[in-house]
Amino acid sequence: MQQVSKVVLLTGASGGLGTAIAKHLSEKNYIVYGTSRQPHTSPYYTWIPMDLSDADSIDEAVKQVLSKENRIDILINNAGIGITGSVEETSIEDIKHVFNVNVFGVVQTIQKVLPMMRKQQSGTIINISSIAGYTGLPFRGFYSATKSAVMRMSEALSSEVKSFNIKVIDIAPGDFQTNIAAGRLYTEARENSPYYSDYKRILKMIDEEVEAGLKPDVLGQKITKILNLNHPKLRYNIGLFMQRITPYLTCLLPGRFFEKLIRNHYKMHNKNS
Ligand SMILES: NC(=O)c1ccc[n+]([C@@H]2O[C@H](COP(=O)([O-])OP(=O)(O)OC[C@H]3O[C@@H](n4cnc5c(N)ncnc54)[C@H](OP(=O)(O)O)[C@@H]3O)[C@@H](O)[C@H]2O)c1
Repeated sequence: MQQVSKVVLLTGASGGLGTAIAKHLSEKNYIVYGTSRQPHTSPYYTWIPMDLSDADSIDEAVKQVLSKENRIDILINNAGIGITGSVEETSIEDIKHVFNVNVFGVVQTIQKVLPMMRKQQSGTIINISSIAGYTGLPFRGFYSATKSAVMRMSEALSSEVKSFNIKVIDIAPGDFQTNIAAGRLYTEARENSPYYSDYKRILKMIDEEVEAGLKPDVLGQKITKILNLNHPKLRYNIGLFMQRITPYLTCLLPGRFFEKLIRNHYKMHNKNS
């Protein structure tokens, strides 16, 4: 008997990780609908517009897939943005925006897709969080906070929808070579700021770490494998070795000791004022 191709709704398909995921899934004959705000033509997916900070556009995107396919087997919440800045100096507008995109947009997408998955009595939801969600990284506190929120919500959701035969998987990537820096919200590094030297240096380190990260194909391949498993794990950490072990270190080490490791890594030193 010929197997029916599964229908995937993948957000953020036009970016580094999204494109790699779409490529690997389409090579395995999944039918991929990929979203982004800017129009995109791709051999790997059918483009659908979606802005995660706009509830109507999320609603419309899900409706478009359902009107064409009448089902959604897999939802991959991949779209997201970065944000940098100290907790003290980041504007509330930027903080709200990053939560709108990375958390509320993801939740709204899930809420729109779940009724169909429950009706189907099957489905898989993959939420792309980040290893940064396991710990509050300096000058990326609000990025870490959004990704932690996604992780905790994924755990709760997984328990709630298991009885409907819906699987929820949290995938936390470490650094990957994508264009994420270009879409980040940046709090300006001002020379008269008490954080100036640390922030400037750490911004550079963050960008270097992304550039030295893994190739997006690694994640695309891994997701294709995970989707083939009958019993996937609740969470996967995918990245370079030191990044993959971070979640375990945050549990095992005393909080102040782990903080010291982070501060040493980023060369942060005590100041007089
Ligand atoms: N790269 C890494 O090192 C890394 C590490 C850990 C986690 N992640 C996570 O992985 C995911 C993908 O990141 P990436 O590195 O591939 O980023 P990317 O290259 O910047 O791609 C981001 C994608 O999301 C879309 N997007 C951005 N803002 C959006 C919005 N408001 N509404 C809808 N779509 C939006 C972009 O398209 P448009 O701009 O056209 O909308 C693009 O398709 C993100 O959730 C990110 O936090 C990345």
